[in-house]
Amino acid sequence: MRLGSLQLASNLFLSPLAGYTNLPFRLVGREIGGVGLCTTDLVNARSLLEKNPKAFKLIETRPADAPLAVQLFGSVPEEMRDAAAYLESIGVASVDINMGCPVKKVCKVGGGSAMMTELGKTAALVRGMVNAVKIPVTAKMRLGWDADNLTAPDLARTLEDVGVAAIFVHGRTREQGFAGTVNLAGIRAVVAAVKTIPVIGNGDIVTPEAAKTMFDATGCAGVSIGRGAFYDPWIFKRTGDFLATNNLPPEPPFAERVRVMCRHLDLMVEIFGEELGCRMFRKVAPWYAKRFGPANVFNKRVVHIATRAEFHSVLTDYIAWRQQFLDERGELLPRFQQAPMIASFMQSPPYGDEVQRSPASAQRQNIPVPKGPVEMW
Ligand SMILES: Cc1cc2nc3c(=O)[nH]c(=O)nc-3n(C[C@H](O)[C@H](O)[C@H](O)COP(=O)(O)O)c2cc1C
Repeated sequence: MRLGSLQLASNLFLSPLAGYTNLPFRLVGREIGGVGLCTTDLVNARSLLEKNPKAFKLIETRPADAPLAVQLFGSVPEEMRDAAAYLESIGVASVDINMGCPVKKVCKVGGGSAMMTELGKTAALVRGMVNAVKIPVTAKMRLGWDADNLTAPDLARTLEDVGVAAIFVHGRTREQGFAGTVNLAGIRAVVAAVKTIPVIGNGDIVTPEAAKTMFDATGCAGVSIGRGAFYDPWIFKRTGDFLATNNLPPEPPFAERVRVMCRHLDLMVEIFGEELGCRMFRKVAPWYAKRFGPANVFNKRVVHIATRAEFHSVLTDYIAWRQQFLDERGELLPRFQQAPMIASFMQSPPYGDEVQRSPASAQRQNIPVPKGPVEMW
């Protein structure tokens, strides 16, 4: 898979999740393997140029975190151009432009989804960035503002003409926020609209089968996974294996989940310090626990941890408590085992216009998504 001049080892991408896809998580994913390119949380171009320490923390990286794309947002062409040039100068592999962020503070300055409605202005801004750097410039968008304005195909074609190296498209509109079914036909329309650049599909990929369905149904060149990677940091590796062999690798066992969760905390502490790292980990640990089986005892306590030692004490107590749910081989008793996850677009064949509720889809609803399409993520 190539993005312009950048050769990638796989066509599986980590989507930016503000507040989550920080350096420790990216390193965790890369250590497990299978991911071709990771993108940072979105970074305000102006803050970067002003050398705001928070913006710098967002682009913190290390050699093991390569290749890395930084996602920029902003609406001032000179700032976006200069920020891209700066990122190239410090060795970032690729720059992504946020065009699908439905957050008010992004839209009100003309960035994010607002960009999708103003083609000419957006094309000029992107051209300025493309001309300023040699590294690939990519764009991430939604299908459009709402169901009556599916502007992504036009936007993708326009951006291809000004030189973007790839399009990432989340198969929902801005109006949908994070609810409802991902529209695979909508992604397919974007694939059909461009001439040569790769289109990377995104939205609700929570299993290797969902990734394959998105590839098959849309003809996309790659898929990008956000929340699914938080449920399952093994998803890239498992998806790569599934695509290559057509055999679905098993989900990782509990011991492996615990090992990786502990590694994640160690990296959080190393990179953010013990106090902040532990505080941030309070919202991360419950993601791992979603596939532990019964975990209420763990979830209640882990949201109070202040030190690594406290985390390990919570974990040790939890492992002892969890024994009651296990059989003699140490596996969860059948009634406590969890159904596999199901992507929204795989719930009612062929590709689900209507979301039907199943036990697995009920779990899917538990993913802590932003409350509304406009106010927050
Ligand atoms: C908490 C959260 C934060 C997000 N932050 C960003 C972001 O910084 N930039 C962006 O382009 N998209 C962001 N997104 C959207 C995701 O990248 C992705 O397009 C969307 O979640 C659908 O993919 P998924 O179902 O695989 O998560 C965010 C989504 C969530 C849930």
